[in-house]
Amino acid sequence: MSKKEVSLKYFPYLLHPRNTVLVTTVGKDGKQNVLAVAWITPISVNPPYLGISIKPGRYSHKLLLETGEFVVNVPTFDLAKEVTICGRKSGRTLDKFKEAGLTVKKAKIVKAPIIKECIAHLECKVVNSIEVGDHTFFIGKVLAAYVSEKHFKELYDVKEHKTLLHIGRNKFTTTQDTYKEIKL
Ligand SMILES: Cc1cc2nc3c(=O)[nH]c(=O)nc-3n(C[C@H](O)[C@H](O)[C@H](O)COP(=O)(O)O)c2cc1C
Repeated sequence: MSKKEVSLKYFPYLLHPRNTVLVTTVGKDGKQNVLAVAWITPISVNPPYLGISIKPGRYSHKLLLETGEFVVNVPTFDLAKEVTICGRKSGRTLDKFKEAGLTVKKAKIVKAPIIKECIAHLECKVVNSIEVGDHTFFIGKVLAAYVSEKHFKELYDVKEHKTLLHIGRNKFTTTQDTYKEIKL
């Protein structure tokens, strides 16, 4: 296998395709926003923490600092265009929910909304934020988590759930119907 050197500015793409989500936020004036996030990770189960890496300058970054609340909404592969709109335009100048044709609904606990077209929602409260290089890593405590029964039993049913995986630029892929279960 021949291997080539990759410029370090492209290193993240050696770790893609990555599960991509829509993160909804709310400002202290009640204004709601949404952005696409591929750099998300679970951190701890008990207590339940997850992390999102957000670049300062994004409108969502300002709203996260203002109210410290957000919802992670899990889209499916068929929402690739809507996710791209949320990931290429800023809520500072337009209503992305309207632009992408996404429906907001009230969340159970936090003031940030959920997106009806997504299949799972994790309501979070920021408990810490760390400036790391050119991004801020926001650590959220998960306050509520719910998912479409059709798509998730004890794990995602890959026959039903076509995950949205970001390859890079505006390219996405998804998972297959088949899976391997390894017995050791
Ligand atoms: C598929 C995809 C994934 C993205 N992932 C991230 C991410 O993890 N962190 C981030 O800061 N920006 C990410 N972005 C860029 C933001 O979503 C984008 O800058 C967005 O327009 C910010 O919107 P806002 O200004 O309304 O907050 C991603 C964009 C796309 C298209």
